[in-house]
Amino acid sequence: MAITQRRGCRSYITILHQRWGKRESAIAVAGFAAVLLTFSFILSSDSSSSDRFSGTGTDGFVPLTFLSNAVQRGAYCLDGSVPAYHFQKGFGYGSRRWVLHIEGGGWCNTVASCTFRKTTALGSSKYMDHQVLFSGILSGDQSHNPDFYNWNKVKIRYCDGASFTGHPESERNNDTKLFFRGQLIWEAMMDELLSIGLSNAQEALLSGCSAGGLATLIHCDDFREILPKDARVKCLSDAGFFLNEQDVAGNATIQSFYHDVVHLQGTAGSLKQDCVAKMEPSKCFFPQNFVKSINTPVFFVNPTYDFWQIKNILVPRSADPRGHWHNCHLNIRNCSPEQIEVLQGFRNSFLKALSELQQMKDVGMFINSCYIHCQTWISETWHGPYSPKINNKTIAESVGDWFFERKVSKHIDCPYPCNPTCYHMDFTLHRR
Ligand SMILES: *[C@@H]1O[C@H](CO)[C@@H](O)[C@H](O)[C@H]1NC(C)=O
Ligand SMILES: *[C@@H]1O[C@H](CO)[C@@H](O)[C@H](O)[C@H]1NC(C)=O
Ligand SMILES: *[C@@H]1O[C@H](CO)[C@@H](O)[C@H](O)[C@H]1NC(C)=O
Repeated sequence: MAITQRRGCRSYITILHQRWGKRESAIAVAGFAAVLLTFSFILSSDSSSSDRFSGTGTDGFVPLTFLSNAVQRGAYCLDGSVPAYHFQKGFGYGSRRWVLHIEGGGWCNTVASCTFRKTTALGSSKYMDHQVLFSGILSGDQSHNPDFYNWNKVKIRYCDGASFTGHPESERNNDTKLFFRGQLIWEAMMDELLSIGLSNAQEALLSGCSAGGLATLIHCDDFREILPKDARVKCLSDAGFFLNEQDVAGNATIQSFYHDVVHLQGTAGSLKQDCVAKMEPSKCFFPQNFVKSINTPVFFVNPTYDFWQIKNILVPRSADPRGHWHNCHLNIRNCSPEQIEVLQGFRNSFLKALSELQQMKDVGMFINSCYIHCQTWISETWHGPYSPKINNKTIAESVGDWFFERKVSKHIDCPYPCNPTCYHMDFTLHRR
């Protein structure tokens, strides 16, 4: 499950650029970056390479800031380095409005995989890019990000390996030299942001993708609590609804993976306590078991054919030793009719897990039928003439409708392959 691989990044970007149009390259690069992150790869390309292909000329680079209170708070990345974030100040209408985005990047479930992670930007700020491009929900360009472009914007870097839920008590085995400080990082990060203006927010949106989308759900009510009572505060989870499903061989692969993460890092104290009171703590890492008890309004962006979930939950390598799913994983268009049927079953489980949420007034959703993972931090999938739509709405428009209460915003797509606006990831081009 903890798949680690190294592969040169630059060469395929060049190939992509030659062979694909601008939009495809941009999405592929961003999507591939997400894959890199998700599988604990090392993403060694610098941010300027994504700029060349982003097609978002006016989006800006934003420098890395190290948490100034980290040492005092004992809030460290896995390797003991100081956590970090990127901040861009809001202006005009946005000067007292904040949008936060928590980076994704999977989890580490063993001493070995966490030790490997220490050698990457997902476990150590020593390897983080000194600046990143703000795009999608963090874009400063009104045409790419109509509702949030002028807000204060923060990208929170992820370096604890457990969605900001680790506790130092679990470092008992000190000879591993691993710091499990996710909860402390979260608290130190929030204190620092409060001190630079978040405490005066009139409106705030906490968002995140993948493991960051899960962190968003776990910490959503904590976030609400630290902000002024009269502020409008909401949370947006992008590709963070990881489903507790058996894999195609009938094994509880994801459940045992989460079990290892939760017990290695001692995360129970950070999970929803009414959930932990009812079931084994690691089950409370699954949104389906705790989202109903989140009191703050939440929006879910998730494809029902989330490629990370297909590849790691439904058909992990252990469940497909002969590689029958290999080509289907690379491109959904390669899947056989039998495999599509299995994917439709996964979609049905997904919709079932969401069904109760659909009845909830404050909840918003954009559940599309694309083969993709994160869609909010990439300008091309967030909002643009060619971005994925449901009911003629982009993700940005749907999120805006819900955040500002312009209208009910619960969009559920028809099943694959019905939606022509989908962007489906194609990994065949990324292999040499
Ligand atoms: C291990 O011990 C040192 C001091 O002996 C301490 O500073 C540190 O926080 C402990 N934990 C880890 C993960 O190194
Ligand atoms: C998965 O299940 C099969 C039987 O269905 C079993 O033989 C196999 O060992 C299991 N694999 C893992 C990784 O648990
Ligand atoms: C879809 O939305 C666009 C932009 O909001 C609008 O111009 C267009 O008329 C809409 N199309 C349909 C079929 O409603």
